[in-house]
Amino acid sequence: MTRKLIRARLLTFHTEPNGPDDTQAYDYIEDGALLVAGGRIEAMGTFSDVSPMACDVPVIDHRPYLVMPGFIDTHIHFPQVQVIASWGAQLLDWLNSYTFPEETRFADTGHATRMASTFYDELVGHGTTTAVAFCSVHPQSVDAFFSEAARRNMAMIGGKVMMDRNAPDALLDTAQQGYDESKALIDRWHGTGRARYAVTPRFAITSTPDQMRAAGTLAAEHPDCLIQTHLSENRDEIAYTAELYPQARDYLDVYERNGLLGPNTFLGHSIHLEPREIDAIADNGAHPTFCPTSNLFLGSGLFDDAGLRARGIGNAIATDVGAGTSYSMLQTLQDAYKILQLQGQKLHPLRAFHWITRGNAVALGMEDRIGTLDAGSVADFVVLDSAATSAMALRMERAQDLSEELFVLQMMGDSRSVVETYVAGVAQIGDRAARADTGLKESGPILAA
Ligand code: GUN
Ligand code: ZN
Repeated sequence: MTRKLIRARLLTFHTEPNGPDDTQAYDYIEDGALLVAGGRIEAMGTFSDVSPMACDVPVIDHRPYLVMPGFIDTHIHFPQVQVIASWGAQLLDWLNSYTFPEETRFADTGHATRMASTFYDELVGHGTTTAVAFCSVHPQSVDAFFSEAARRNMAMIGGKVMMDRNAPDALLDTAQQGYDESKALIDRWHGTGRARYAVTPRFAITSTPDQMRAAGTLAAEHPDCLIQTHLSENRDEIAYTAELYPQARDYLDVYERNGLLGPNTFLGHSIHLEPREIDAIADNGAHPTFCPTSNLFLGSGLFDDAGLRARGIGNAIATDVGAGTSYSMLQTLQDAYKILQLQGQKLHPLRAFHWITRGNAVALGMEDRIGTLDAGSVADFVVLDSAATSAMALRMERAQDLSEELFVLQMMGDSRSVVETYVAGVAQIGDRAARADTGLKESGPILAA
């Protein structure tokens, strides 16, 4: 069994920090060590405590960098890697002009396979080790997505978008086909290695009532799958949904009445919510998913994080590439901070870094495996340089404490701060050139979902 000892400054959270002084919420270890064995964290603590357990184990010294759990992105579109930065439109025009045409290309397995490789390079290059992704309507896009994740031993969640109307013919399935293809993909991928499947009706506009019912049936038949969709992102989208579903009490009811609302449900955007919708989300334990760079890019609106949290709702946070403008969860936190500022709300860096690690893991019900550096977790972690650019280095000269350092990463960080990303104990960046030629240099153990 491959073992290694990682020496660095370590940060991991036990609970969401209540405020800047809540030091009980996390462990920060100046001279820390992670003992990694068989792709998992066997021990975490001070270097002086952990190193005696690791006789003859190679030491990888990442000092003075900061190691924290790999970032978790809870809403991203795999077939939109070449849609990112498409100019000038809000949601519905953006979908019709750029996104739908691009997604038709994923009918081609060769294209999907090439894009999957670049997609994962971007994720790990930005410190993301787990993501929840929408694939295209084509089952082959899901196969490409999960095959590449398996090759890299990454804990990925995804699903084929079900969509049977209001899009180009080349992107449409039918209610029955959407059900059958999704079911076959669940059988093939859910629980295979680290993969989990998400039942994925794209959104109300692109699914007929028949298809929405079929999605509900699938979800009921597979209660441990996730459910992902979009909700109340844009005013025109909401108005069109009301026309298409005249019997629904509101937008959320389209999903709720079909059994698609529960603790495994991730509702992308959830910006313009009615009081009844907020009640139902709270009552059902679903997760509104804040996508700050996307909401600014498409001019969608301001996510009311504090209002939802006050109702006990567990918000997730995500990039939403390709409407999102960066793969970086650091840049995502930067825009989240600004969106909350516009509403008189605060995003303290301790809470921010909890959110993109353990917080998103808790929303996914996976905090026993990912999102912390606790012993027993899979060794998915990121090595961060808070002084990666000259401007960051200059600012860091004046940083007094951990919170200030984290805030520099939150406001100024991006892929340049990601020194290394480990997936199941295997470094993904350092040997990227070699991997491109030869496949993974060191293959990790196969882990369960
Ligand atoms: N609503 C339905 N599909 C999409 C999508 O691909 N991106 C965003 N941002 N919203 C959507
Ligand atoms: Zn989306």
